[in-house]
Amino acid sequence: MQIVPSPNVIGAKIQGVDLAQPLSDAQFQQVEAAFNKHAIICFPKQRLSEPQMISFARRFGDVEKIFLKHYAHPHYPEIMYVSNIKENGNDIGHADAGRVWHTDMSYTARPPRATMLYALEIPIDNGKVLGDTLFSSAADAHDALPFETQMRIANLRAIHQVAGRRARTGTGQQDQALRKEQPAVVHPVVRTHPHTGRKCLYVSKGECEGIEGMPKDEALALIDELADHIIDPRFHHTHRWQLHDLLMWDNCTVQHLASLDYQWPQHRRLMHRITVDGTVPV
Ligand SMILES: [Fe+2]
Repeated sequence: MQIVPSPNVIGAKIQGVDLAQPLSDAQFQQVEAAFNKHAIICFPKQRLSEPQMISFARRFGDVEKIFLKHYAHPHYPEIMYVSNIKENGNDIGHADAGRVWHTDMSYTARPPRATMLYALEIPIDNGKVLGDTLFSSAADAHDALPFETQMRIANLRAIHQVAGRRARTGTGQQDQALRKEQPAVVHPVVRTHPHTGRKCLYVSKGECEGIEGMPKDEALALIDELADHIIDPRFHHTHRWQLHDLLMWDNCTVQHLASLDYQWPQHRRLMHRITVDGTVPV
């Protein structure tokens, strides 16, 4: 097994491992240590059936049920389709997942430790791969804040709601239904990573609607300031997809954004997604 770190503050690739086979405990420890350290791991050239992907995910913790049930795999409810493919006029999966910077499901009480995406079809146009996924390190962003700011925000708690402020920009009835199903939750503005102990900023413009005990205007201004800081290019890592990449990222350490630069029906994109092991942020 070879762990190849990216030149960025986050990201690595692991070669020489076949995830279709069960990993030994020693191999898994190496993978998990690399995952905690680099926050985004790509395993290139994997050939994974659904049960094999689920088995690998289970090594990291409980595999979560899909919140957006209408996009769940018909035979494997642990797997969600992320896809722009339409069948009979309907999206088969979540077509515009990640159009704003976010961390997955921060609007739940126990947001997932990790998200995995497995690339089954990727859009290519004139030889150029489309649909990059951008990441930014919320841990390095926290470390780079002035000490006074770190002190000022250390004990604040932000209110997260599904579709959050986006819902007000007219994303429709589906978001309204989700908001009924999933009431707002409160999480620390600065999370302590459960495995590394690093401090990570944990706010996003999309989901965060306020800060406990702070006037709304002041809270939204602070959320925006911190959210803009998290996505400063010095903390970035871009993943350019290749067919059969298994990519996983740490939802405490990083935020991500999808490049929606491809279009149905010229381009087809299909990913299997699994989320693992939610913990209550502290
Ligand atoms: Fe996401």
